[in-house]
Amino acid sequence: MMFSTLLVCILSIVHFNHQIFIQPAVINTNDIQNETFIENVTIHEDTTIAEVIDVAHEETDKSISLFDDVVELNIGGQKITTLRSTLTVIPNSKLAQMFNKDNTKKKNLPMDKSGAVFFDYNPMYFNFLLDQLRAFKRMPKKPGYQIQFQAPYMNSPMNFTHMLVDLGLTQNYFLSPTEGTHINLTVNSLAGWKECYRSTYNIPFDFSVIKKSCNGSRLLVGCRNINNKNVLTLAGIGQYEDVVHPCLPKQCKTNGKSKKKNKKLTCSSSYQCITQGKRGVGWYNANNQTWGFVRGSLSFVIDPCDPSDLDSDYRLCWTKQSDIKKGTGDRCGSTKNLQNSNKYERLVYYIA
Ligand SMILES: *[C@@H]1O[C@H](CO)[C@@H](O)[C@H](O)[C@H]1NC(C)=O
Ligand SMILES: *[C@@H]1O[C@H](CO)[C@@H](O)[C@H](O)[C@H]1NC(C)=O
Ligand SMILES: *[C@@H]1O[C@H](CO)[C@@H](O)[C@H](O)[C@H]1NC(C)=O
Ligand SMILES: *[C@@H]1O[C@H](CO)[C@@H](O)[C@H](O)[C@H]1NC(C)=O
Ligand SMILES: *[C@@H]1O[C@H](CO)[C@@H](O)[C@H](O)[C@H]1NC(C)=O
Ligand SMILES: *[C@@H]1O[C@H](CO)[C@@H](O)[C@H](O)[C@H]1NC(C)=O
Repeated sequence: MMFSTLLVCILSIVHFNHQIFIQPAVINTNDIQNETFIENVTIHEDTTIAEVIDVAHEETDKSISLFDDVVELNIGGQKITTLRSTLTVIPNSKLAQMFNKDNTKKKNLPMDKSGAVFFDYNPMYFNFLLDQLRAFKRMPKKPGYQIQFQAPYMNSPMNFTHMLVDLGLTQNYFLSPTEGTHINLTVNSLAGWKECYRSTYNIPFDFSVIKKSCNGSRLLVGCRNINNKNVLTLAGIGQYEDVVHPCLPKQCKTNGKSKKKNKKLTCSSSYQCITQGKRGVGWYNANNQTWGFVRGSLSFVIDPCDPSDLDSDYRLCWTKQSDIKKGTGDRCGSTKNLQNSNKYERLVYYIA
């Protein structure tokens, strides 16, 4: 009966990046845990651009003369001289990568006769940008997600924007990723994201901590095998309001028949959840019971979590109460029944 509900009630599938697929077989959790159990992995520290910038500031403050040097540029014919630390102040930008001290080969950088790196931009635009980089260097510990460059008031701000894109100074370049669902997402690629919650699945999930600690404009909700900490098995990204928003009464009703508004969800029976895909991710937050996401817009049963095998790799489900009657339990992608597992972790990151 549950399966028929799952299959019949799929309303529409929108915003999908890829085609949906159906996992043919019922998955044996033991198999999966053994298969995904990876030994001997290198664990990298989680680094965000904010932390990188903090370090850059410390170095600049302490010993500007030791680590810095003067760089000559030729911008559309005009010689401009600046400090390397100014060009590299946004660590993950293309501009910083070009002038990073490690880039000794000056790969792919065209030079003029005098050996100055040449950029084919209007020097007015470049100077305008350079002033902002200089100012940024002196600001106290500004996190990456707050960085935004102003275009000068001229007849064509597009030209300035094109330059920013070329130099990798747009947030879409140095912050990543910014939306959607992701499988095998490398933790090191989470530029700009700050971790605000982490617990293994066997520890009760406390939703109030998310509301307290993860106060940002966007949240990234992910999970991983603790033996492979440098990769998030599955992650979904959404606007804060979409991610934490409780299911509307219409969206979360008792299985099949209830029409009572705001009916409190109890933990003993199953409920139908209908998600609305927001930029590829369908979030649900059933009062005091279940929190998670699927890919796109789906209708399915939570009992108390999401046992579906449809598009299985792209489903995350966490039960919210410790005293809940755990049925099919929590999941991290296609790995299910994780409610007592200390081998899998929940993680939440935010961008202010
Ligand atoms: C998975 O591993 C456990 C312990 O390492 C073992 O007891 C179990 O038989 C394995 N299951 C499968 C399906 O290989
Ligand atoms: C773990 O890594 C070390 C060093 O890289 C290697 O010598 C060892 O054989 C590895 N062990 C396993 C079980 O792969
Ligand atoms: C900006 O680019 C446009 C073409 O896209 C050009 O017509 C315009 O003159 C440029 N403006 C400046 C100030 O360089
Ligand atoms: C993700 O990683 C797992 C284990 O390393 C691998 O089996 C799987 O094919 C990967 N999936 C994708 C979509 O990359
Ligand atoms: C979340 O951040 C906003 C804006 O910074 C602030 O107004 C609000 O009070 C914060 N909420 C909590 C619960 O900290
Ligand atoms: C959720 O649970 C908490 C504590 O168990 C309770 O205080 C709160 O009223 C509940 N909220 C709803 C909407 O049922």
